[in-house]
Amino acid sequence: MQAILIGFMGSGKTTVGRLLAQTLVTQHADLDDLIVESAGTPITTIFANYGEPYFRQLEQQTLINAIKRPGILSTGGGTPTVAANAAVLKRSSVPVIWLAATGETILERVQNDRSRPLVNDLDTESLMTLKRQRATLYANAADLVIHTDQLSPQEIVGHIVSWLTASHLVARA
Ligand code: S3P
Repeated sequence: MQAILIGFMGSGKTTVGRLLAQTLVTQHADLDDLIVESAGTPITTIFANYGEPYFRQLEQQTLINAIKRPGILSTGGGTPTVAANAAVLKRSSVPVIWLAATGETILERVQNDRSRPLVNDLDTESLMTLKRQRATLYANAADLVIHTDQLSPQEIVGHIVSWLTASHLVARA
């Protein structure tokens, strides 16, 4: 992978990942999509039928395989919060970019989306507590943090490409 995007649910990892891959003329992979593909069933069904620990096993194995591929990887909101996954990210030496957003922004984006089991199961307060707890873990995993609230996906991609270029991680256009 050329870059990995992390962040809480609704932080824009998939949208920005796709656009970043387009901009860098490379492939994009979404970890959740890869998990769904290999399990042959939606994430809500995996959680409901087999539980979160089983989902985390699938996630870890999928991450280990995905990280070897070229392109941009959008992770799931919980991916870097599992110690084994955080270790995989650190060992890979692929730049990890945290798309940070305020609670208000996140809630606006995820509240009416029924495809996220944790959003379905947790009330607003518990979801915001989870977001606070995860912030340190995202910070520990990240090489770059972008506060996305006031930025369009294009602007976020612009920041990422400038940073990758300045860090000599992509060739100057
Ligand atoms: C999760 C986030 C989801 C998905 C699963 C668990 C989490 O991904 O991996 O529902 O623990 O935050 P998104 O961040 O893409 O919604």
